[in-house]
Amino acid sequence: MFHKIPQKIQLRMSYLEDLSRKQKEQGVESFDRLRQIPQETGRFIAILAALSPRGKMIEIGTSGGYSALWLSLACQRNDRNLITFEISEKKVKLATETFKEAGLEKVINIVEGDARSHLEKYKDVSFCFLDCEKEYYMECYELVIRNMVKGGILVADNAISHEATLQPMLEHALKDDRVNSIVVPIGNGELVSYKI
Ligand SMILES: C[S@@+](CC[C@H](N)C(=O)[O-])C[C@H]1O[C@@H](n2cnc3c(N)ncnc32)[C@H](O)[C@@H]1O
Repeated sequence: MFHKIPQKIQLRMSYLEDLSRKQKEQGVESFDRLRQIPQETGRFIAILAALSPRGKMIEIGTSGGYSALWLSLACQRNDRNLITFEISEKKVKLATETFKEAGLEKVINIVEGDARSHLEKYKDVSFCFLDCEKEYYMECYELVIRNMVKGGILVADNAISHEATLQPMLEHALKDDRVNSIVVPIGNGELVSYKI
């Protein structure tokens, strides 16, 4: 997966990494920034997605499409598709450009809008990367876990960087007997929940 990343995908990853760096240097407002995952988290979610069983692969919080590019490596390995949700019109535009530039228009389907109003109808989810506003985590977690297949994997970003804000959701996931959960110190901290 990582040894032969198609050039088009590599180029777009570098473009978004540069854009993200520039936004930070220029002090762009947090809401407008890409706020994308670091490379090591990209590798981590790609491996977990590749290991997940048959079923739907979803992402909540697309931004410019950087994490989706990493997940696309798992899609291509297992001949699967990714559905990714994004609420901001501006970011949907950027991510659409990302998927076109990377040659992934047939692999990644972006859904514009609040993921919470769509998730109910996505049954048989086998992998979910949760990376939207933190106040929506609990609701998204619940909507996804109840529709997740046995052996499915949910990964939630910022479990360490936003530990205080996410405390109720993290505690809930760690005690939830439908899953086995652990927080892994990779990148900004990843909650991994494995559906029993
Ligand atoms: C941290 S960024 C995602 C970064 C992206 N996963 C990456 O690593 O490239 C969070 C994104 O979630 C979007 N978002 C926030 N709440 C949402 C919701 N309820 N439904 C869909 N997207 C949402 C924001 O607009 C923002 O682009």
